Amino acid sequence: MSHTDEHDIVQTEEVSRRRFMGWLLGFSALATAAGVFTPIMGYLWPTKRQLGESGGRAQVGTLADFPAGHGKVAPVNDKPVIIVNTQQGGLKAFSAICTHLGCITEWDERRQIILCPCHDGRFNPINGDVISGPPPSPLPEMLVAVEGENVYVSAANA
Ligand code: FES
Repeated sequence: MSHTDEHDIVQTEEVSRRRFMGWLLGFSALATAAGVFTPIMGYLWPTKRQLGESGGRAQVGTLADFPAGHGKVAPVNDKPVIIVNTQQGGLKAFSAICTHLGCITEWDERRQIILCPCHDGRFNPINGDVISGPPPSPLPEMLVAVEGENVYVSAANA
């Protein structure tokens, strides 16, 4: 190995060491940024975190949010749930995940049904049964509890 070759190797090592340091610095800057931003995000969008800590029960709104014939999707334990104040059956809640291919269902206020927009699956808001479309089974029902003005939903087996 000539002297020049050795010099080249040393230089190459020096370059890769510097690259590594640069990478390390970049990485720690990123880690710092993540450390700063994560709590901010948590502050701005706290729902998910709070639900995770509430042991499977989540407040989905107040009675004022659910006039008769009105419904909405809200997260319960990180999963979408559809809550409807049905005209005949009172407050009802079901998993909002369509039993066909897993799309999120929505409340169709005009037709007063739970609708899956993916393949027009339709569900009965009183018992979750399939009215029409490809879903093979009803939407699993969740428990609704009203305390004062607050509406809570939890898994039926919680
Ligand atoms: S995913 Fe809901 S109807 Fe297909």
